Amino acid sequence: MDPVQHHETTTQRVLEDDRIGLRPLAVSDADAHLAGCDEAIIKRLGGGEPSSRSQIEAWLETNARAWASGGDVVDLGIEDLDTGLLCGCVGVQRGLDYLSTGQINLTYALYPQWRGHGYATRAVRLAMQAAQARRPVVEFVIRAAPDNLESIAVAERAGFERSGQTDDADGELIWLTHQA
Ligand SMILES: CC(C)(COP(=O)(O)OP(=O)(O)OC[C@H]1O[C@@H](n2cnc3c(N)ncnc32)[C@H](O)[C@@H]1OP(=O)(O)O)[C@@H](O)C(=O)NCCC(=O)NCCS
Repeated sequence: MDPVQHHETTTQRVLEDDRIGLRPLAVSDADAHLAGCDEAIIKRLGGGEPSSRSQIEAWLETNARAWASGGDVVDLGIEDLDTGLLCGCVGVQRGLDYLSTGQINLTYALYPQWRGHGYATRAVRLAMQAAQARRPVVEFVIRAAPDNLESIAVAERAGFERSGQTDDADGELIWLTHQA
């Protein structure tokens, strides 16, 4: 199941395995994203408030540009290879104030109908490769609320180990890390 590396353009997949691909987001993903953002995603990643269509379109455009320009903080779309449908997003982030040089924070969300098939775990593995293909990485980080058992399980399935806990403006978070 060796992932296939593709040239990076705004339309092609970045990486894929035998079930999913990662690809840059586009404003045309707004309908799928709007429909897929359930309470769990809004609570865990959306700051507790649902986003409007125009906010989502702006967010998609920001991420499309960030990918195209090699930006530090970017979400990629997770695509189901069988149907070509967008299943969710995986965030690849460096340079945030809580990260040290070479640390990459990963975030992920699956729209509800795509949960329970291992797609988030696959997306994390591909995102780690996508990050390393762009610039050197020392360590990957996933931060999850202690009660977000689904997220912690994704990280552990992807080989991350608990390495600490913080309690600050971002709330109480378990840190799971994976050496690059
Ligand atoms: C976190 C989130 C992405 C996890 O989704 P998920 O579907 O549970 O995770 P995966 O896609 O890796 O799938 C794992 C599940 O599929 C099952 N599965 C089926 N086939 C599988 C396979 N081939 N490989 C791995 N798991 C498989 C696993 O057993 C597991 O199910 P279980 O929890 O009932 O044991 C999802 O709950 C979500 O979007 N939450 C809201 C956003 C969020 O909290 N993000 C994290 C912020 S830190």
